[in-house]
Amino acid sequence: MSLEVNKALAAVLTAGIAFMGAGVIGGVLVHPHRLEHSAIAIGAPPPSEGQAPAAAPAIEPISPLLAAASADNGRAITGRICASCHTFTEGGRAGVGPNLWGIVGNHHAHAEGFTYSAAMRSKVGETWDYEAINHFIAGPARAIPGTRMAYAGMSSTAQRADVIAFLRTLSATPVPLP
Ligand code: HEC
Repeated sequence: MSLEVNKALAAVLTAGIAFMGAGVIGGVLVHPHRLEHSAIAIGAPPPSEGQAPAAAPAIEPISPLLAAASADNGRAITGRICASCHTFTEGGRAGVGPNLWGIVGNHHAHAEGFTYSAAMRSKVGETWDYEAINHFIAGPARAIPGTRMAYAGMSSTAQRADVIAFLRTLSATPVPLP
């Protein structure tokens, strides 16, 4: 290696070490401490006494949109958003969430051997019809308080329609469209 290259590398190394050192010293001199309360309040303020709590945003029914929805787009959306936790193929393994083959028309907590939350288990007698899935994916924690599905929710009605149209196809005998 030429001397010039060596010099250049040494300069880069020195700069890196100096930079790291500055960070360490900075951390010692300035004690970072966390705010006890967030400086910015997120969400609505708690209702004051005598005032009714603000109603949760209404969730548009999905059934009228399903016939025209795009299962292909739904497949793409679930691939981006849901596939980090769910598989969709028949017999697919569970991930963070249960496999979703045959979910439409099935009962809540449908996957044998999956460890559901107590909240989800308590609804085992209820059917995942189109509107139940619609409400759940629009806001899991709002639809089923205590659910373990750590997903904030899908606010776009059109996207939910596409996703549900795709979920419907995950069956040898898909449930009829509404
Ligand atoms: C961060 C991981 C995660 C993501 C992302 C996620 N899920 Fe889930 N999902 C879960 C878990 C965990 C459960 C089990 C919930 C429980 O037991 O309360 C679940 C449960 C479900 C159920 C009920 C299954 C049953 O057997 O009753 C449906 C339907 C569902 N998810 C659909 C979706 C869809 C559609 C998306 C994408 C829009 C999605 N999930 C995104 C983790 C996730």
